[in-house]
Amino acid sequence: MSEAFSGEMSRALVLERFGSLPRLVERPVPQPRPGHTLVRMRAAEVGHLDLNIVDGRFGILPDLPAVPGSTGCGVVLASDTHPEGSLVRLGGKALGMRRDGCWADHALVPDAAVEAVAEGTDPALACSWFSPAGTAWAAVHAVADVQPGERVLVTGAAGAVGALTVQVAARAGAEVVGVVGRPGKLGHVPAPAKPVLATELSVESVGGQVDVLVDTVGGPVLRDALPLVRPRGRAALVGYTAGREFGVDLADFLLADVALLPVNLMTRGKEVAADAKRLLTDLRTGELTLAIERHGLDGLAEAVERLRTGEAIGKVVLEMG
Ligand SMILES: NC(=O)c1ccc[n+]([C@@H]2O[C@H](COP(=O)([O-])OP(=O)(O)OC[C@H]3O[C@@H](n4cnc5c(N)ncnc54)[C@H](OP(=O)(O)O)[C@@H]3O)[C@@H](O)[C@H]2O)c1
Repeated sequence: MSEAFSGEMSRALVLERFGSLPRLVERPVPQPRPGHTLVRMRAAEVGHLDLNIVDGRFGILPDLPAVPGSTGCGVVLASDTHPEGSLVRLGGKALGMRRDGCWADHALVPDAAVEAVAEGTDPALACSWFSPAGTAWAAVHAVADVQPGERVLVTGAAGAVGALTVQVAARAGAEVVGVVGRPGKLGHVPAPAKPVLATELSVESVGGQVDVLVDTVGGPVLRDALPLVRPRGRAALVGYTAGREFGVDLADFLLADVALLPVNLMTRGKEVAADAKRLLTDLRTGELTLAIERHGLDGLAEAVERLRTGEAIGKVVLEMG
């Protein structure tokens, strides 16, 4: 098995310096070795976590040069553990962080980072659903404990986590308001949420104070949305695309009496895995929706730009053909 792919070439996006974009290079196909699975990649997610790593702004960083990409989907070429030819999802085990990840035509990863995926699943969905579905479930159920009849405000409601949070909260019986940062996204807030523009956020536009805020945007959006939560309400904090910091006036904070609750999928991944898998079934059948933007390996620059600026709608994925 070890010589099976010797001499064959493969494309990979290689990060040489933090803060720059990875370069598309030709390199030999990684050679299979015990305990590892060689995968022909079909799709890989470009997520905010990956961009933080590319920027060198994350707690776990690879030695360079390195191939980023924390999650992907492909077909097994060689493995002692996973059937050859099967469709698999790659994730965990510090892929794209401590070891080479998924932004390549081929990936050699630890067997434990490989999980079977139902045949026929769209590889772009298979590689990108877990983070938004798991996070949405964790925010709505595990962290904010949304109850039927409660009013829930979701920021970044046309984003990947935000759009699924809207749908999971509505399924929990909540009345949902979805906030977006630009007019072009109003039509991308999933039903049945009421869409509202962030610049027009007020108690009136939201229809009264809410019981729960799920914030996926951070910075000034969090600052403006927090006062809309009723006393003894909950605010679940998911992301910080619009800013890593916001100031808290302690007197106002105590007066408002709103619980600020972090949502961390890394610590809650196992806890929400079964529920996230049920959401994947509904995403496959179209009962739930998750928008996906698709780019080639040679389209990384555009993919990154759209994600960084917030222009992207839903998940951003590289497809390898
Ligand atoms: N805590 C966790 O465990 C966990 C898990 C998954 C994801 N996350 C984080 O959650 C956040 C959302 O993830 P996602 O996958 O839903 O991302 P996304 O699809 O890109 O959505 C984020 C939203 O933030 C707004 N935005 C993006 N860039 C911006 C910018 N430069 N300035 C201002 N607003 C901007 C956009 O909404 P508008 O245009 O409508 O404002 C965008 O739709 C990210 O920060 C991600 O890292 C956290």
